[in-house]
Amino acid sequence: MKIVLLGYMASGKSSIGNITSKKLFLPFIDLDKYIESEENMTINNIFEEKGEIHFRLIEHIYLKKILNSDDNFILSLGGGTPCYADNMDLILNTENTISIYLKANINTLVQRLISVKDKRPLIKELDDKMLIEYIGKHLFERCFFYEQANKKVIIDNKTIDEISKEIIKSLN
Ligand code: S3P
Repeated sequence: MKIVLLGYMASGKSSIGNITSKKLFLPFIDLDKYIESEENMTINNIFEEKGEIHFRLIEHIYLKKILNSDDNFILSLGGGTPCYADNMDLILNTENTISIYLKANINTLVQRLISVKDKRPLIKELDDKMLIEYIGKHLFERCFFYEQANKKVIIDNKTIDEISKEIIKSLN
């Protein structure tokens, strides 16, 4: 089985994917890390030196490559992955694949992103007030794609372990 975790930046895709993969004895792939290692560049540097359009293009190519493999895995996407090219359709139409939306409210996301925004190219220039407005609008736009996932797990006020258990339960 292929499990694809999606959701906004800082919704816990990577940490939840990592811990869940260990419990299910499945390999874990973090799409951002995969891109960084294939391109030998950080995501920040790809955005800065080559631009977002280039990033979205290679993100689509690597996603396709991973989904096309015969392996089973847990894959954590980048926050924007489902919202570009035909990525969400691709995920929904890949055999033996379950997509799970890790849904967080705006408050949770703002609280988490305020302290780590420097590592995120899309938000690193925003001050705290602008960040709140940006996340609200951006999440609203992206929800259209996220909500198409096969399953949804609310992550607000839950530990990584609780969320991971919920994911595993939802698979049975
Ligand atoms: C992005 C989210 C990032 C990364 C890139 C773009 C986005 O991943 O793919 O900076 O468009 O939301 P995380 O969701 O893991 O931060």
